[in-house]
Amino acid sequence: MIVSIDKMAVSNDLKVFKMICIPIVGPDMSSALHDIKVAKDQADLLELRLDLIKDFDLQKLLDVAEKNVIVTFRPKREGGQSEIADEKRMDVLLEAQQKGVAFIDVEWDSLAIFPGKDLSNVIASRHFFDGFPEDIETLWSSLCDLPSGIAKMAVKIDDISQNAKLFSLVQKSSKPSILIGMGEEGLISRIAGKKFGSMLTFASIDTHKESAPGQVTIDALLHLYDYHSINAETKLYGVIGNPVEHSLSPAIHNAGFLEIDWNGLYLPLKVKDPRVFFESMKDFFDGFSITIPHKESLIEHANEVDGIVYEIGAMNTLVKLENQQWFGLNSDLEAAIGSIKKAFSDGDLDNKTALVLGAGGAARALIIGLIGQGVEVTIANRTIEKGEMVAEELGAKFISLDEAVLNSSEYDIILNTTSVGMYPNVEENPLEGARFQAGQVVFDAIYNPENTKLIQSARESGATVVTGKDMFVEQGAIQFENWTQCDAPRELFYKILRSY
Ligand code: ATR
Repeated sequence: MIVSIDKMAVSNDLKVFKMICIPIVGPDMSSALHDIKVAKDQADLLELRLDLIKDFDLQKLLDVAEKNVIVTFRPKREGGQSEIADEKRMDVLLEAQQKGVAFIDVEWDSLAIFPGKDLSNVIASRHFFDGFPEDIETLWSSLCDLPSGIAKMAVKIDDISQNAKLFSLVQKSSKPSILIGMGEEGLISRIAGKKFGSMLTFASIDTHKESAPGQVTIDALLHLYDYHSINAETKLYGVIGNPVEHSLSPAIHNAGFLEIDWNGLYLPLKVKDPRVFFESMKDFFDGFSITIPHKESLIEHANEVDGIVYEIGAMNTLVKLENQQWFGLNSDLEAAIGSIKKAFSDGDLDNKTALVLGAGGAARALIIGLIGQGVEVTIANRTIEKGEMVAEELGAKFISLDEAVLNSSEYDIILNTTSVGMYPNVEENPLEGARFQAGQVVFDAIYNPENTKLIQSARESGATVVTGKDMFVEQGAIQFENWTQCDAPRELFYKILRSY
């Protein structure tokens, strides 16, 4: 028996009735029935995609669903698979409505021929698979003018900044609305849309079971993004980068928010143009992490920055202050300097000596930070001219990598900023044959693997080590503390990183 959502709720309360819907996509009855059984306890609604289920038996599907369902019978022109005549499709949808299903989905251009009288539980839908329509406001407004109870539009997102338009439209909408961005760049609309009032989101039961491009899995929606906790007051954060799909920042920050009861949601933000993105999204968000390749691009967009940001030319954190102004800082450098300080019993770096391996962007930032703490820095680099140039520019000494191996025990701090030893070349060591001793601090920026050859040999010699994972946790913790003004749960961050 189908439990139908109360019609009053459908007509009046859907703006506040935020649901997760799992589409059932076939390809045949046995697969659909199996998926319904797996999905029905995980979601508020199931969408029966009749056009994707070969030789469907509606009654059988409804008997097993025992759940609120949306019945959809999508024609090819709107991105579905059905090729049967519109009148016949409408008859099937009417039959479903008469059987008491919660919702039926009727495409915008079929609504006029839908034979049913009651449109309160009809979702009038429109899809744009080929790109983001320029006149989306007009299109959305005419969709909302149709006499259906609910309006739904799904559009292909070409650039993540376009989601801002969807957030605004759904926020202003006067009827129950579903606005979805399709494709990887549309992911944030599927999750954060709830904050702005989107009536439901679609989540796939598993990867490869998506009914539209970019759909998030139910597991990620519930466990990574804690969808049920999102509401109008939820503060949005995210990591601006490209690529970001493998970033572990969403996992640590979202778990951290949950741990301290902070109403926040942290999203991966695959951004091509950070300036356009920031300007279109800054009103919707409360904080950003910024990663490769965008650490330089947003410096001028902050209202104020920590002084070191200008010196090193890199900013990885933006914080929205109470006065709505944006403050920028570099938690990578703060984390590195803080972790190295902590590794010494006196907590002081003044007059200590450091050997920095590498002369790229990461090395420059560390060298400037170390010199600022009174450290005497020596650079060793594969390309001698580059190493000498950076050393001269920043006020450091230069030695060759061979000399560095021979003299490694002379320095208080050794820092690797090269990629030597990084997965998959895990057997490589940038200081092969070097000797370390207790009292030295050896730092490796590489976090995959955590225990690089360099870290292993330093540890065996009794030196104190700071790993890339320590750095990742610490830079994230500093961001978290700037956003929430609460202590970051560092142990939890480590636990999560270990689980990946
Ligand atoms: P980042 O921004 O992470 O510092 P980068 O600017 O590309 O990256 O700098 C990488 C540094 O690692 C460089 O100093 C590079 O040495 P070269 O100047 O000789 O290119 C160093 N590096 C990269 N691969 C290396 C390798 N296989 N052996 C030694 N040094 C290496």
